[in-house]
Amino acid sequence: MSSTMGTLFKVSTMGESHGKAVGAVVDGCPAKIPLKESDIQRQLDRRRPGQSDMTTPRDEKDAVTILSGVEDGRTLGTPIGLLVQNRDQRPGDYGEMSQIPRPSHADFTYQIKYGIRAASGGGRSSARETIGRVAAGAIADKILQEWYGSRIMAYVSSVGRIDAPQLEEESLTRERVDQNIVRCPHDAAAKEMIDLITETRDREDSVGGVVTCVCRNVPAGLGEPVFDKLEALLARAMLSIPGSKGFEIGSGFAGARMHGSQHNDPFVLKGNRLGTVTNYSGGVQGGISNGEAIVFRVAFKPPATIGLPQETAAFSGEEVSLAAKGRHDPCVVPRAVPIVEAMAALVLMDLALRQKYRLS
Ligand SMILES: Cc1cc2nc3c(=O)[nH]c(=O)nc-3n(C[C@H](O)[C@H](O)[C@H](O)COP(=O)(O)O)c2cc1C
Repeated sequence: MSSTMGTLFKVSTMGESHGKAVGAVVDGCPAKIPLKESDIQRQLDRRRPGQSDMTTPRDEKDAVTILSGVEDGRTLGTPIGLLVQNRDQRPGDYGEMSQIPRPSHADFTYQIKYGIRAASGGGRSSARETIGRVAAGAIADKILQEWYGSRIMAYVSSVGRIDAPQLEEESLTRERVDQNIVRCPHDAAAKEMIDLITETRDREDSVGGVVTCVCRNVPAGLGEPVFDKLEALLARAMLSIPGSKGFEIGSGFAGARMHGSQHNDPFVLKGNRLGTVTNYSGGVQGGISNGEAIVFRVAFKPPATIGLPQETAAFSGEEVSLAAKGRHDPCVVPRAVPIVEAMAALVLMDLALRQKYRLS
C-alpha cells in the first residue's frame, strides 16, 4: 500500500495540504508504553512552518490529538490514531497554478497518474503529509530511547555550497542543533547559511541543502538481509521524503575514491563489546547494524515553487510565464531535520521488533 510503511510497526499517513486535517495510524505499537501528546508535540513543533524567517510563513500550530490506542497515558497495543487539523489554508493562492504545472513539483505527475489532483498547495505531495510521519516517528523514537538508550539526531550540514566543517558528532544533541534557526551546530557556518537563505528568499529563489543524521546506541543486529537490509530501508525511507534527491551512508560516494587499506574499519575491544576504530561503514555491514553510530546524509533539492518568473507551459500546452504565489520555504533543510529523524526512528523501530521476533 502506497501510504503505509513497516512490517511489524506499521504506519499509514493521510491528508492533503489544504484539506481538513493530516495524520497517521500506527498499528503494531507495543502495549503499556507511557505516551502522551506532549511526547509527540515536541518533534511536531520542530517541523512546523512559521518557526523563523528561514521557513514558509504559513501559520500552523500543528497541535496533535491522540484519537485512539492510548488510555490513562499508556498504549493499549491497538492502532494509535494521530490527528492534526489544518487551519491556515489559502486555496486561493493556487488559482493560476491549477492550470500550470509548477516546474519540478509534483503537479504534472499527480495529474497524469490519477487524472485528478488536489491542486491547492500540492495536495498530498506537500510537506504537510510529513506531519503524520513525524508524529508516528516520535512514538518510535521514544520507545527506542527507553529500550536501548538510542539517540537519533540530525542536523543541517550544507546549504547550497556552504558546508559545515567536520563536527564532533558524539557530543551533539537536539538542543545544540536547535540553538540557531538553520539547525547547523557550527555557528560560523550557520551564519553563512542563514545569510545565503535570506538573500535567496529576498530574490524569490530557493536553494538546496544536506541533512546529516547520526543514530547512536542502536543495538547490533538490526536489518533483514537481503532485501530489507538496514541501509536499503533507510535509503527508501529517506528518499520518500518530499524534495529529497540523494542518500549516502558512511563514506558514501567518497568511498569509491578510496583504497580498502584506507577504508576498512578495524575491530577493537570497546568495553565488553567488539567495536570498530573507524566508521567508514556508517554503522552498517552486510545490511545489519554493527553497534557503531549509524551515520547517513540526505540531499534535498531547492524547493520548486519560486516567485521568480519562469518560462514554462500550461497543461494546455500554451507557453506561459509562471511567478508562483503562495507561501513557500526558500530552503527545506531546517524543517527536514525532524522528518529525517522520524523516518530513521520508524525504520529502526520496525527492525527492532523484527529482531525481537527472530530471537524469541
Ligand atoms: C519540510 C519541507 C518543506 C517543503 N516546502 C516546500 C515549499 O515550500 N515549496 C515547494 O515547492 N516544495 C517544498 N518542499 C518539497 C516538495 O514537497 C517536493 O519537492 C514536491 O512534493 C515534489 O516532490 P519531489 O521533489 O520529491 O520530486 C518541501 C519539502 C520538505 C521536506
